[in-house]
Amino acid sequence: MNRLAILGATGSIGTSSLDVARAYRDRLEVVAVSANRNWRKLAEICREFSPRIAILAEEKIQNEVDTELFPKQTELRFGTEAITQIARAEEIDTVIAAIVGAAGLESSYAAVDAGKRLAIANKETLVVAGPIIVDRAEQTGAELLPVDSEHSAIFQALQAGKRQEVSRIILTSSGGPFRGKSKKEIATVTPEQALQHPTWNMGEKITIDSATMMNKALEIIEARWLFGLPARQIEVAIHQESFVHSMVEFTDGSVIAQMSPPDMRLPIQYALSYPHRWEAVATKSKFDKPFSLHFSPPDFESFPALRLGFDVATQGGTTGAVLNACNEVAVSRFLHRDLSFYDIPRLCRELLDRHDFISKPTIEELEARDQWARKESYLWKP
Ligand SMILES: NC(=O)c1ccc[n+]([C@@H]2O[C@H](COP(=O)([O-])OP(=O)(O)OC[C@H]3O[C@@H](n4cnc5c(N)ncnc54)[C@H](OP(=O)(O)O)[C@@H]3O)[C@@H](O)[C@H]2O)c1
Repeated sequence: MNRLAILGATGSIGTSSLDVARAYRDRLEVVAVSANRNWRKLAEICREFSPRIAILAEEKIQNEVDTELFPKQTELRFGTEAITQIARAEEIDTVIAAIVGAAGLESSYAAVDAGKRLAIANKETLVVAGPIIVDRAEQTGAELLPVDSEHSAIFQALQAGKRQEVSRIILTSSGGPFRGKSKKEIATVTPEQALQHPTWNMGEKITIDSATMMNKALEIIEARWLFGLPARQIEVAIHQESFVHSMVEFTDGSVIAQMSPPDMRLPIQYALSYPHRWEAVATKSKFDKPFSLHFSPPDFESFPALRLGFDVATQGGTTGAVLNACNEVAVSRFLHRDLSFYDIPRLCRELLDRHDFISKPTIEELEARDQWARKESYLWKP
């Protein structure tokens, strides 16, 4: 039995993870689940899976929660410290990091520090603290298994050759809802328009990140640390069908791609079943009708966030923490109609250029830069 802690169980990745757990009750045991505030959904999950522990990060809602809705065998805890504790707990084998944003960093670090398998959807962990997480995993023997579909694809494709034979990796991107549009057309888009993703159904923050292509920028940084490749060996290709999830080119020119319909249950399942493969919970590919696959280079003019990804992957240090914090605040301000679409990359660029850079920061120094960037991002005026 693989004993799971699903952190962010009420979200999009959390829900897909529970689908996999439901299909493999004989191999996966849901021991702990967490959410931020959504206690009704968390209670529903607990009634179905009977985990031993359920955690709500937001302590202030303690009085609102109807504890009767949780089953007797589930102990309800509150606060972020409880999440960090469960990520380290002996009774857990695998932590699924499905919290959104930098809020997921502490529990991811705890899981790595305790030598667990970390199924990592929370890309912000690697964007903010990639080198620290990877180094600590090497010391403790923790396994970092990607859940992001692109990184899972690369992880799978890399198994076709040796590390020194890799010439580059190509991250694919659907291009989001504004693919093919000019800068002028995109400049005035609304949150509602940006929330209409053409191929993936995801949480709000990552959907806006896909529209700006900041999501791809964060994935470039994630890949840089997870696979230990310099930014010059990472490329992006627009692929509107979201069928090829990413590719690895080896030195002889062979390109190995991982393909499947867009369904996050596949990379989640692989992160849990690795090094084995289990029968699919996700929808399988069909080749009974003609279909085409398209690839094109990205448009750096219309999607300036992409350049930020390459710059941060090159510079490292504190830049990931600053970019991530600025983006989280900017996305929230955009959703509240307080900033325009292009203010998001503009704000990030300006504060990145202004911040107090350190090349080899500690976790505390990263936290300090994160807090500085959040404060400045709330004050920033277009
Ligand atoms: N969705 C996808 O297809 C996809 C694909 C690849 C990677 N990812 C990555 O996976 C992560 C999760 O994305 P998502 O789309 O699943 O997000 P989501 O649907 O917004 O879910 C986020 C989860 O995190 C919890 N949460 C939010 N703020 C928290 C906080 N401060 N402390 C503790 N828990 C908190 C939420 O609880 P409440 O429900 O109580 O708010 C919810 O359970 C992100 O890092 C994203 O980039 C997602």
